Amino acid sequence: MRIHQVGGSLRDELLGLPVADRDWVVTGATPEQMVEAGFKPVGRDFPVFLHPTSHEEYALARTERKTAPGYAGFVFHASPEVTLEEDLARRDFTVNAMARVADDAAGAIIDPFGGLRDLKARVLRHVGPAFVEDPVRILRAARFVARFGFAVAPETLDLMRRMAADGEVDALVPERVWQEFARGFMEIDPVAMFAMLEAADALTRIAPELTPWREEAPGMRALRQAAMRGLALPERFACAAIGLGEERVRGLCARLRVPTDACDLAVLHERSVEALARCGSLDAGELVDFVRQADGLRQPLRLAALLRVALAAGMPEAGAQRITRALDACRGVDAGGIARAQSGPAAIQAALRAARIAAVSAALDGS
Ligand code: CTP
Repeated sequence: MRIHQVGGSLRDELLGLPVADRDWVVTGATPEQMVEAGFKPVGRDFPVFLHPTSHEEYALARTERKTAPGYAGFVFHASPEVTLEEDLARRDFTVNAMARVADDAAGAIIDPFGGLRDLKARVLRHVGPAFVEDPVRILRAARFVARFGFAVAPETLDLMRRMAADGEVDALVPERVWQEFARGFMEIDPVAMFAMLEAADALTRIAPELTPWREEAPGMRALRQAAMRGLALPERFACAAIGLGEERVRGLCARLRVPTDACDLAVLHERSVEALARCGSLDAGELVDFVRQADGLRQPLRLAALLRVALAAGMPEAGAQRITRALDACRGVDAGGIARAQSGPAAIQAALRAARIAAVSAALDGS
C-alpha cells in the first residue's frame, strides 16, 4: 500500500497558502485492507475512507469513464492495479493533478501533466480530453480564477466553449451551480468568476438573467466593492443582482435555488432602488414609510444588510446614516402603549405613524 497527498491541498501548499484538510490517494490496496488498517469507509459511489485519527479522506486510486449524460453516467474503476498516474489523469486541471509521497513534506512532487509549470505561470490548463465529461469543471475554473487570479489556457477555454455549445452545461443541476457560485461569490475577485463564465459562453446558459453581461455593469461594480468590504454572501448576491429588476431576480433565484435570505435581500434592494436613491432628501414621513415597507422594524438586520448593499453600490454614507437614524427612532416608539390608547386598527395605524414621524423628525433635527 502506498499513500500520496493529492489535489487542492497540495496545490495550496505549493502556493504557500494555509491548508485545512488534505486529500490522499492510496494505491496497491483493497477496500478490505483499508478497513483492516482501521480506516472507516464513507464512499457511496467509490471507495473513500476516513483516517482513524486525522479523519482526512483517503481514496483508493481509480479511473473514471463517462457512459451516459448526467451525474449517474460515470463508471468508476478502483483496484490495487490502478496507478497513481492513472488516478491523476482523471483530474480537472494540471495544478490539481500533482502528488507527493505521504509524510515527506520535502519530497519530490509527482507531476505527470506539468502542474508545477502551470502553477508557476498561474495558468489553469485541463489535464486531458476527459475534462469535458464533467461540466462542473467550468464552474470550478471560474471559481479558481476568482480565488487565485489565474488565467485559463486558451485550449482549455476553447474546450469550455465547446462544452457550452454542445449543451453539456445544461446538464448541471441547480444545487451544484449554486454551491460553486456561493463559493465563488466569497472569493477575493468574484467578478472574475462571471467574466470567466461569460468568456466560456456559459453564463447565458447557466444564468441567462444575468446576461447580457458587462464587467462594468452597476451590479458587478457593486459586487467588486462588496468583496473589498468583506460583505456576506446574501449581500454579495444582492449586489450582483442590482439592476435586474424584481422579476428577473425572482427568476434567477428560482433557477439556481438561491437560499431565501439572499433572494429576499436582492428582491428588497430592487424594490427599494428609488427610495434609496432619494434617501438624502426623504422627509420624516417618507422615511417612516420606507422603514415599514422594508419591514425594518421586524427585520432590522436585513435593513442593515440592505444599506450595506446600497453603500457598495455607491449610496453616500450620509444617506445610510439617515435611514439608520430613522429606523432607531421608529424602534424607540412605544407601539404597545399607543395601541392601547386607541380603538380600532385604523386609529392605531394612524397614531403609530404620527408618533414615528414625530420621533424621526426629532432624531433628524437633533443630528
Ligand atoms: N476534482 C476533479 N474534478 C472535479 C472535482 C474535483 O478533477 N469536478 C479533483 C481535483 O484533482 C481536485 C480534487 O479532485 O483537486 C479534490 O477536489 P475538491 O476537494 O472538490 O477541490 P479542491 O481542488 O481541493 O479545491 P477547493 O480548495 O476549492 O476545495
